[in-house]
Amino acid sequence: MNPVCELCGDSGIILKGEVAVPCGCIRRKAMTKLFKTSRLPKKLLNCTLSNFSFRYYAKDSLDVEKGFSYYEIAKLSFQAADNFISKFLQDPNTDGLLFSGPVGSGKTFLACSIANALLKKGKVVLFIVVPDLLDQIRSTYDTSRNSGDYTEYDLVDTARQVPLLILDDLGAHNYTDWSRNKIFSIINYRLNHCLPIVVTTNITPEDLFEYLGERTTSRLLEMCKPYRLLVDLDIRAIQRKERDQ
Ligand SMILES: Nc1ncnc2c1ncn2[C@@H]1O[C@H](COP(=O)(O)OP(=O)(O)O)[C@@H](O)[C@H]1O
Ligand SMILES: [Mg+2]
Ligand SMILES: [Zn+2]
Repeated sequence: MNPVCELCGDSGIILKGEVAVPCGCIRRKAMTKLFKTSRLPKKLLNCTLSNFSFRYYAKDSLDVEKGFSYYEIAKLSFQAADNFISKFLQDPNTDGLLFSGPVGSGKTFLACSIANALLKKGKVVLFIVVPDLLDQIRSTYDTSRNSGDYTEYDLVDTARQVPLLILDDLGAHNYTDWSRNKIFSIINYRLNHCLPIVVTTNITPEDLFEYLGERTTSRLLEMCKPYRLLVDLDIRAIQRKERDQ
């Protein structure tokens, strides 16, 4: 529980002379609630575009297929994230983004930067780690694990309808038909209602077909502009090495 506001005693109103004005705590509380319901892990709150560093992306390594250096790709991906934020603020039905790339290339960082920026603007965002979602849905069937807080329908329904959904780590898992159907139902609903998704995945869009099936992947690629972040070394490993030095 939050402590009672010293200024307004939680009435939400303070007196300025003779005039009643809204207390600043209302906005703060609403913000806290937004961040909480976004399920964005605390650790990822500092993933912001202003903290995004380009030094991990080599200027002399080339994506031969695209003809861009890793550095140029990082710049383009960053720009895409930044543009998405402004576009979403103007039009919540804008197209989404799909960040693919190897482990430790900054995909989750960029997706979280989008989430953080939009939450700060008061937008409702849901950050979902795909394997966790599937596990949570499954646990709602299991009465010994289900505390009764939510049902499968609540979870899937929130993921379907939230203004912005971030699907983190839509990876190379062994999806069962059951989990493929859950993912499909979320993506299909969002496509039909023009609700954007920001996806991160460590598999190439071509390989997504194999893991998620044709109908889900083709919809995803229709909704999300793809960016493939590339690094020579896992950024996590570089940062660990630097800390240890
Ligand atoms: N461009 C960046 N600038 C600063 N730190 C970064 C950057 N990209 C990633 N990191 C850090 O490196 C680690 C791995 O990044 P992450 O985005 O989780 O990788 P991925 O999702 O591609 O596996 C995290 O600790 C993250 O904070
Ligand atoms: Mg990640
Ligand atoms: Zn107050």
